[in-house]
Amino acid sequence: MGEEQFLGGVLVIDLGGQYTHLISRRFRELGVYTSVIPYKFVEESILPKFSALVLSGSPLSVSKLSEAELGKFRRLVFNSSKPVLGICFGHQLLARLLGGIIEEKREFGRTGIRIVKRDPIFEGWGDFEYVWMSHNECVTSLPNLGEVLALSENECIAAFKVLLEDNVVYGVQFHPEVRHTVKGLQLFENFLDLAGVTRNWSLGNYVEYVTKEMSREVDANAKALVAVSGGVDSTVSALIAKKVFKDKLVAVFVNHGFLREGEVEEVLRNLRSLGIEPLYIDAGERFMKLLEGVSDCEERRKLIGEEFAKIFKEVIENDPEIKYFIQGTTYPDVIESGAVSGSSRIKTHHNVGGIPTWFNVKILEPLKYLYKDEVRSLGRLLGLPESLLKRHPFPGPGLAVRIIGPLTKEKLEIVRKASKIVEDTLREYGLYDSVWQAFAVVGDDMWVGVKGDERDQGYILTIRIVESSDGMTADWARIPHEVLDIMSRRITSSLGKVTAVTYSITSKPPSTIEPC
Ligand code: XMP
Repeated sequence: MGEEQFLGGVLVIDLGGQYTHLISRRFRELGVYTSVIPYKFVEESILPKFSALVLSGSPLSVSKLSEAELGKFRRLVFNSSKPVLGICFGHQLLARLLGGIIEEKREFGRTGIRIVKRDPIFEGWGDFEYVWMSHNECVTSLPNLGEVLALSENECIAAFKVLLEDNVVYGVQFHPEVRHTVKGLQLFENFLDLAGVTRNWSLGNYVEYVTKEMSREVDANAKALVAVSGGVDSTVSALIAKKVFKDKLVAVFVNHGFLREGEVEEVLRNLRSLGIEPLYIDAGERFMKLLEGVSDCEERRKLIGEEFAKIFKEVIENDPEIKYFIQGTTYPDVIESGAVSGSSRIKTHHNVGGIPTWFNVKILEPLKYLYKDEVRSLGRLLGLPESLLKRHPFPGPGLAVRIIGPLTKEKLEIVRKASKIVEDTLREYGLYDSVWQAFAVVGDDMWVGVKGDERDQGYILTIRIVESSDGMTADWARIPHEVLDIMSRRITSSLGKVTAVTYSITSKPPSTIEPC
């Protein structure tokens, strides 16, 4: 089933621009479903399923496009009979297709533009507005076919309109999707109104859409397995799957032994409060046997992934009625994997549950149309407790990636207890929600200490607290010294084996967030 059939809306043709997802997000904010499909995979045959097309920005230069590529764009734009909006590179591309002149002229950042011809696309805009530009080339002239609507301070054509036989085409050199374009959202809204796009996208109706779609796809008598970790994605996936499979949903919670202190009880409590009674598998000893003494973190990740798969395989083999495996894949993963209809596979996405293809089950992805923060909002709508929604991200392999050098039970206990102190102290001082992650790391380096009158030797423990918006980049959090002091004292007084506490003050890059 193609997503465009399920909700229609705007097709964002991705030409490789860094803001493409932002375009998609903004249209969703306006209540319109968007599909982002890389240009190479867009076929003319899928166009009738959409109400409007958007051509994104790109790092490419329009002058470098081949005749074959131009031909494909020509067909997409001129045969679609849908309203088209070209942004930045998309704007230049449209101009090129129309015989316009494109010259090297750079504009970066906040730029003023003058509206030289009033048009409904600029409804609500003044005659002079600030927009955000980011380009090396611009359109300087258009043939008679096009109407120039706005000019930049540097005399670049900032916006134009072309009326074709049965569609209207707009080009804007600036980025309406970026907040710095003060009235960007208004322009998108105007475009949707002009294009007559129905605004039927909301998270409230998402559950209904996706459960209907899944119900149509699945065998009503079969069971589905969902691996739950207590995190937002797997919990929301389980709640949606529950609506489809009801008592035929088998939720499995595997404890690999590298969870945070008190996490098992908390996860079970949360899931039960939401009506999910998971099969709890305490596999701590099994994992410890496998990982004890393993020094290489990548090796640990691999072993943990494989062991998880084995456990799921055992569950599936014990219950032949299980025919489906629910996975919390989100929209960006689907796009990366090329699984969006109209596109083909670019790369295989890293599956949340790490379920190997040799499993004789079909994968279902109830979150596949959602961005990460939409999953969070949906979780809120579905009644997930605030404590769960605000919980810091936690890596799948858990505390096993926070131990440097050979993994030992002793180091694991130190990391677990110290991390709890770090998190609790942040909560106590109202700082927990303002940071991305906060935890403890331990390696093999020792520090000589003195306890009472005795010389002692113990571990060096590192506290890592970072701020980030997506985990791709991060900065160390400027935690008040008094709070760090309290953490340090609490750690050394309750963990006899720790004689020194350090604070990690390296951003990402060059460091990663996790130590290994
Ligand atoms: P790094 O350490 O790469 O982490 O800067 C970025 C974000 O990803 C999380 N992370 C993982 N998550 N499995 C996961 O599910 C992993 O193996 C893994 N390694 C890192 C990390 O916690 C941070 O939020």
